[in-house]
Order: sequence, then C-alpha cells, then structure tokens
Amino acid sequence: MVKLLQLESELSILRPLMRQREVGSVLEIGYYEGGTTLFFDHVIGMPMGFIVSVDSGTATPCTPVLTKAALHIVIGNSHDTATLEKVRAVMAEARETSFDMLFIDAGHEGDDAYLDYKMFAPLVSNGGLVAFHDINYPDVRRCYSRVLAETQALHVEIMAERSTPDIPFHGIGVIYL
Ligand SMILES: C[S@@+](CC[C@H](N)C(=O)[O-])C[C@H]1O[C@@H](n2cnc3c(N)ncnc32)[C@H](O)[C@@H]1O
Repeated sequence: MVKLLQLESELSILRPLMRQREVGSVLEIGYYEGGTTLFFDHVIGMPMGFIVSVDSGTATPCTPVLTKAALHIVIGNSHDTATLEKVRAVMAEARETSFDMLFIDAGHEGDDAYLDYKMFAPLVSNGGLVAFHDINYPDVRRCYSRVLAETQALHVEIMAERSTPDIPFHGIGVIYL
C-alpha cells in the first residue's frame, strides 16, 4: 500500500486545474513512495502520458509504482546539475521536449523549493503549470513567494482549512507559466 502524503481535498481541486490545461506530462521533484505519482497517472489517464520523478532515494528505495503513463524515476539530488542532465537524457530518449507540469515536493528547508524551481521550471512548456506543495511550511512559503515576486505570474492557492495529524503541512501553490 503506497502512502499518500497529500490531503485528498486539495488534490481534488488540483485535478480539474490539470485537466483544464490538458496536462499529459509531469515532472515531479520528490517521489518518496509514488503517492502523488499515482495521482498524476490517474489524472493523465492515458498510456501516452509521460511522468518523470526525481528523488535522492535517501528516504525510501523509490520502488516504481504501476502506472499507465511511462514512468521514469531519476535518482539524484535535485540541486545537482548532473540530475538535470539525467532528466534531459530521459526526455531525449522519449522524444519529449517539455513537460506540461512541474510538481515541487522534495526538500522543504531553506531555499530548497526555490532552487528546484530555478533548476526545473525551464523544462515546462509555455502555458504549463508549476505547483509547490506544502506552502504552509514557512520555508516553502518563502520560496513560493519569491518566485511569485520574480515572475508576477498568474497563480492560485489551494489550501485546506486544516491539516490532519499525519499530514501536518499542506497547501498547493499553482503558478501558470
Ligand atoms: C515529501 S516527500 C515526497 C512525497 C510525494 N510527493 C508524495 O506526496 O507521495 C519528499 C521526498 O523528497 C526527497 N528529497 C528531499 N530532498 C531532495 C533533494 N534535494 N533531491 C532529491 N530528492 C529529495 C526525499 O527523499 C523524499 O522522498
């Protein structure tokens, strides 16, 4: 059983935003056990879909979940350019030039989320989405606000009224590129 580290109520709002943008490919930073990967696969809902998920592999072995879309797990520190090159290599092999959505949910401390944005947002297509998870976590909020200030992008915040005992941090900030 794969543990989902997200609030269902927030994902149920993210789902139509993804459908509206016809998201068929996702780059996820922070795989863990693949809980959100399964959610993205369900939303994409097609075997032509393409999901790349990056994780250091330090928290779990990152066992691949069963997906309809082609899933590629890239093991590496998201802040290393070598990891970006691995993602680019997977894209080249799959003949994909960009992603429809970037979901940032790896390191939550300091500039982690901001650095993930700077590293991987250039791989997202014009009109694509960038989502920051856990924007009620202080450092993630600071990173998200910094990106908003820099880009002046249209954005929407999905925030449940309360967390649950096992999911204390939540909130999804979605930026429209
Ligand atoms: C909150 S979990 C991801 C949860 C997953 N998105 C879900 O909801 O099922 C964060 C993951 O990010 C990974 N991580 C943390 N810092 C990282 C980094 N700098 N590079 C790559 N992975 C990182 C951890 O190993 C962990 O598996």
